[in-house]
Amino acid sequence: MSSEKESKTLAVVNCSQLVTLGGPARPRVGAELRELGIIKNGGLIVRDGRIDQVGTSSQIEEKIEDEWVVLNAGGRVVMPGFVDAHTHPVFAGTRAGEFEERSAGATYEEIAARGGGIQSTVNQTRAASLDDLVSGGRRYAAWFLRGGTTTVEAKSGYGLSLEDEIKILRAIKKLDDDTALRYVPTFLGAHTIPKEYAARRDEYLALIIDEMLPQVAREELAEFADVFCEQNVFTPDESWKILSAARCHGLGLRMHADQLSLSGGAKLAAELGTVTADHLEHTDADGIAALKSANVQPVLLPGSVYALGSSRYPAAREMIDAGLAVVLATDFNPGSSPTPSLTMVLSLAATHMKMTPAESITAATINAAYSLNRGAQLGSLERGKIGDVVIHDCDDYRQLAYFFGIEHAWRVYASGELIFDRKSG
Ligand code: NIG
Ligand code: FE
Repeated sequence: MSSEKESKTLAVVNCSQLVTLGGPARPRVGAELRELGIIKNGGLIVRDGRIDQVGTSSQIEEKIEDEWVVLNAGGRVVMPGFVDAHTHPVFAGTRAGEFEERSAGATYEEIAARGGGIQSTVNQTRAASLDDLVSGGRRYAAWFLRGGTTTVEAKSGYGLSLEDEIKILRAIKKLDDDTALRYVPTFLGAHTIPKEYAARRDEYLALIIDEMLPQVAREELAEFADVFCEQNVFTPDESWKILSAARCHGLGLRMHADQLSLSGGAKLAAELGTVTADHLEHTDADGIAALKSANVQPVLLPGSVYALGSSRYPAAREMIDAGLAVVLATDFNPGSSPTPSLTMVLSLAATHMKMTPAESITAATINAAYSLNRGAQLGSLERGKIGDVVIHDCDDYRQLAYFFGIEHAWRVYASGELIFDRKSG
């Protein structure tokens, strides 16, 4: 492996399908979602960490020079690394006990109402040190990478005090520096009202707006801000105040919208012109039209629907038909979606949302990259982009969604360096 790390040029040949996602330099909509830019029997070159060339395997073979590292993909599928545009990957403890209670019939909302749910992870995360959070985060980073995900959006939101939100964002920064996974940080101080502010909501809003946001912006700890807009969490009015303040600090806007009820989230996202509106399980036709009118990207999270035991999946087909640039993500978190697996999400999108495997792959790569302001660097295998390349152990991309419950990634490269090899783990 060390010789591969030292080498500046990597050639991958003999790919049954080189899934490039090449296409227009913008998020893909409508029928474009099915166009994967596949080169059959393809190959590619990564030079100095960037994609230098894609083509047929024989075109690439002709260029190979002695000192290059050459990988024979053995007739496997080769793709850009997945981009997971909605995760909560830094927290302490687990909620396996609540999971067991839910398996016996308790609901997510009931558990939250009695002080469990997000608040229970907040209690554990507040008690953890920065180092504890980083070491837990490393474990999850390894899970993402071995699943073929090379970039994640990463939300805070389990601290809910100035000190603890900053601690989580610093942990995210350290994980970005120390691991091969790329992190795009999002401030989610508005994840829920913490218990000590239950009778003083306005004071918690003031803390977010007057103290947390200014420090997050000053220390450049986040690129985006997010709010959980939901009944019994943050109202549309409160969400508007928080997101408007975040915008004044130069942060991009995302929103948890219409997850558990039709609470006006999608409409507010459109009014504010957020970059994304996430979840949308309850969004109706008016909400979809509003998102379209403001070009908001929907981020759909079927892993959380599945893990909550619900059957209410978002209306992906209607969103695609309306011309929205749909994104799929895991929502990895210790409560509603404890999975880092985007291939599991592709399976759920096919079986429950009637998205084709090609549409899902576009949604979890190039469209996700655009939603994170990384469309020019990530999400496709095109000349000049970062060399995040995954070789999956199958010969047809459709198998990524079809065979579920297994890990497909065989080798994972970040900036052209081997960072996961199935043989050695
Ligand atoms: O996206 N909806 C709010 N936030 C998470 C759940 C977080 C948790 O349960 O810890 C979500 O589903
Ligand atoms: Fe979430």
